[in-house]
Amino acid sequence: MSGRGNNGNECPRLIEVALPIREISAESVRDKSLRHGHISTLHLWWARRPLAASRAVVFASLVPDPDDPRCPAEFRAAVERLLATHVSPILRKTYLLPDPDNSVLPEEQREAIRKCWLHKLPKHWPNEIEKITVQDDPYAPYDGMPDTLRNRLLMFIAKWSRESLAFEAGKAKKEPDPKCLLDDRSLVKWETSDPENPQGREVLRIARELVKVAYGGNIPTVLDPFAGGGAIPLEAGRLGCQAIANDYNPVAYLILRATCEFPQKYGKPGKRRVIVEGFGKKVEQEAQVPNVLVHDLEKWANWILERAREKIGHLYPPGKDGRPVVGYLWARTAPCSNPSCRGEIPLLRSLLVCNKKDKKVALTMEVDKKAKTVRFGIAKGNAIKATEGTTVSRGARCPVCNQITPVDFMKEASFSGKMGERIVAVITEGVNGKEYRPVEEHDIRAFEQAEKMLDPEDAPMEPMPESPDLVSGRGWNFKTWGSLFNPRQLVAMQTFVACLHEALERMREEIADEEYRKAVGVYLGLWVSRSSMFQSSVGLWKPSGEFVAAPFSMQAIPMVWDYPETSPLADASGGAGGQLEWIMRFILHESNNAVPASLTHGDGAALAMEDRLADVVVSDPPYFDAIAYGDLSDYFYVWLKRAIGDLVPEAMATPLTPKTDEATALKHRHGGDGEQADAHFKSKLSAVLAEAHRVLKPGGIISIMFAHQSTKAWTALIQALFDAGLSIDATWPIDTERDVRSIALGASALASSITVTCRPRVVGSAAAFKQVRKEIEQVVQESVKRFWSYGFRGADLIVACYGPAVGVFGKYERVEKADGTPVRIPELLELARQAARDAIAGEFRGDNLSTLYYVWANLYGTAEQAWDDARLVVQIVGGQPSRLQTEADRQDAGPPTEIMEVARGHGIFVVDGSTCRLALLADRASRRGRGMDGNPPHIDALHRSMLLWKQEKRSELVEYLNERGLLEDGPFWKLAQALFEVLPRDLEDWKLVNALLGERQTLRAEGKKSAYKEDQKLPL
Ligand SMILES: C[S@@+](CC[C@H](N)C(=O)[O-])C[C@H]1O[C@@H](n2cnc3c(N)ncnc32)[C@H](O)[C@@H]1O
Ligand SMILES: [Zn+2]
Repeated sequence: MSGRGNNGNECPRLIEVALPIREISAESVRDKSLRHGHISTLHLWWARRPLAASRAVVFASLVPDPDDPRCPAEFRAAVERLLATHVSPILRKTYLLPDPDNSVLPEEQREAIRKCWLHKLPKHWPNEIEKITVQDDPYAPYDGMPDTLRNRLLMFIAKWSRESLAFEAGKAKKEPDPKCLLDDRSLVKWETSDPENPQGREVLRIARELVKVAYGGNIPTVLDPFAGGGAIPLEAGRLGCQAIANDYNPVAYLILRATCEFPQKYGKPGKRRVIVEGFGKKVEQEAQVPNVLVHDLEKWANWILERAREKIGHLYPPGKDGRPVVGYLWARTAPCSNPSCRGEIPLLRSLLVCNKKDKKVALTMEVDKKAKTVRFGIAKGNAIKATEGTTVSRGARCPVCNQITPVDFMKEASFSGKMGERIVAVITEGVNGKEYRPVEEHDIRAFEQAEKMLDPEDAPMEPMPESPDLVSGRGWNFKTWGSLFNPRQLVAMQTFVACLHEALERMREEIADEEYRKAVGVYLGLWVSRSSMFQSSVGLWKPSGEFVAAPFSMQAIPMVWDYPETSPLADASGGAGGQLEWIMRFILHESNNAVPASLTHGDGAALAMEDRLADVVVSDPPYFDAIAYGDLSDYFYVWLKRAIGDLVPEAMATPLTPKTDEATALKHRHGGDGEQADAHFKSKLSAVLAEAHRVLKPGGIISIMFAHQSTKAWTALIQALFDAGLSIDATWPIDTERDVRSIALGASALASSITVTCRPRVVGSAAAFKQVRKEIEQVVQESVKRFWSYGFRGADLIVACYGPAVGVFGKYERVEKADGTPVRIPELLELARQAARDAIAGEFRGDNLSTLYYVWANLYGTAEQAWDDARLVVQIVGGQPSRLQTEADRQDAGPPTEIMEVARGHGIFVVDGSTCRLALLADRASRRGRGMDGNPPHIDALHRSMLLWKQEKRSELVEYLNERGLLEDGPFWKLAQALFEVLPRDLEDWKLVNALLGERQTLRAEGKKSAYKEDQKLPL
């Protein structure tokens, strides 16, 4: 776990030296599945960092490395006391163990018990042996790890649980549940932050004490200039620091206040007037409530809900069955393009509306061919005859004439106002969960009433971004933010906004403290904003869980054909009451639990802060072009502004969110010019980092999390760091997506995010590239080994090597090539990639295609990989396309094609949709003459040899090997040896390679003999 320390006289921070990244990664992966009380349930924000990673990075950036001789003695003493000698009893688990000195036991058993004692492992021993009680030592380092203070501190941050260790050692068969991977007493564990967990409270108390001791008894300040959804300042506050959080986006700013300022400031017990029941009477009296903020929020939200019910309750009437309506399923409609039909096609992805294991419900379509109409009914279980919807990739199938109407025709129809929508089913609240019924007459009437109530002037007329990549409805003539809501949804949203205004007015009489009233109002606004996700015509119905999914996926708002409309008044998924629950749970979780953050709203490049204010900076800047924060957040902004624009005018002055100063590389903001977009990102990021540097105290560090794999994005980041006078000191990849490939983060995101720790750059003299190259190669080689041992592979592994390479580069004022020109950052990254490739390829030095095959086999074995990840690896190994092309390819293929295509054309992998895997002999053997060209790549020659062996054509094999000089060819046999080592043993390829290697000597001897025979034939 060693990183690089800083070069000065300062004691390095722990993060510059060590971090338990495998353990932190395991907990970070869990973050996505956490719900109750979790930050993600307050309000959607994009690319929130996992809390575990944020907590670990903040903590390790604050505390010094206790093993460093420069570490202050007080800190060492505190670690020793809190994590070794005086661990609080609440953190010790008690186990019953037999006494190792019990003389009735045979010596080997006593030895086993002693060992057991040593590791404090509970074991089952025969009853007759007396057991004694021992308490464990929660932060004792793992077996074989020296018991140093640094290691104890690492164990405190995150330590594998006993179950995980037993599984890893092969002593337990079952892999522990994700929530049991880490020991309960780990700082980064989610449960540690549960205010109801006394053990967790103690862990946090220790963490805060350590942080305070590290700062000589003072509270350190942690700045995050790009705070977004607030994971970093929330964790900084939890660790007892004064967090300063800034964001440019007004929606993020409001979320930030609600995340790391209000619960901590106001979430406290207090007196309130409450209604109590006694002797059959309800009376109002003053009483103590556990959390005034939650109490007041609930009270006013319910007030709004009741007012709204009075105004719009009749728009969601129950049907003949009398069951309350939960919502409606809608389908957009398009005219059939068949001139002799022109029926109305309901656009549906599937007819299934509920698809659970024990509950299946589907729509039925009854077609009246004459009237060219479709009636929808409901079928359940075995009565379901068809499930296929009407939409297909090319367009939609008309249920009347069965012909396909192409997408272009539908688009035209949408631009000429000929697309419509209709309700296809009603969702009701049944006795055992949701029920579905056909549409009845009064359902239609209720909707018509809503249409009449709508004041179109009130609907958000603000334009959506023009890029259909962001809001695909743009390509379907949806222009304003309001157009993503049907009329009843608009009426519902407007009603909630109007009732919220009434509530704010009334609150003036009851809540005198203006700031506090603002806090309650902001939550009410976020509640309405959050509910808009379940009140739009771009949400998705999920039959597998019978719930509404938010309209954002792939960092955009995709167009949908069929959508759910929830009743905001229903007690169900998507209802406003349910939305409120999530918010209240979050507040309860974070209440009274930490130091409130101090918030600023604006461009991080111009912070209204004095110099040298922050002890550390921890931040997570935008990932180049991955997320258009401003554009996407306008979806919420238009509602927030209507709801609480007057309450927080300081945050909502502009008609839409400001975008000019956003640090992103978005082409559509620069007239489609990619270079301008890149340049904007670079200069903004430089300016924000320079500002962070200005605000940083001397001796402080800056830790940056970054999750993008492209060279462009990294070039921009590194250039920005250098421009801001910073260089990289340590690099840590943290896995956040191990199981689920990043859908949420889009194609160019890494499975892991990389944290780099920076310090002001102390530049030495200029240096020659030749010398620096050697240093970089060495550092990268060490890094590959280290990151490999942590389980990082593929693009994650390679990108993680950028940081260490930059660390070397940054030491010099300028690095010059032989001709005196300076080495640029893209060249530096290319060198880092090459060094990583060489480190992975190890001893193997062959042609490029074979190296690619070998590196790939090493990185991924035979597992399937996402195409984008593969592309990076191919680029790294191949460099330029021509490097990968063989002579034969060049002649066949004409001009060099995309690099991936070259490798693919040569059958190096098998591609299937968006994934690919290494091609094995069976995949490659079909191409005749493979390995027969003049100078074939080694992998082709090896595969040819394996094939000949498999076909038992020994003499042909000997001849082949002999003629091509392969019997004595080092790289050929090295490749065979390498594949022998990395391929799974049950694979035919492994068996064939194994056989060839085993026969190498005999084949050689046979080769010599036949060569001799050939010689004999030659005329003298
Ligand atoms: C990757 S996100 C941060 C996510 C955050 N760490 C979290 O866990 O939620 C980056 C943030 O930077 C903000 N941002 C973009 N440009 C900015 C600028 N010039 N100044 C301040 N913030 C900016 C975006 O609005 C976005 O919220
Ligand atoms: Zn038709």
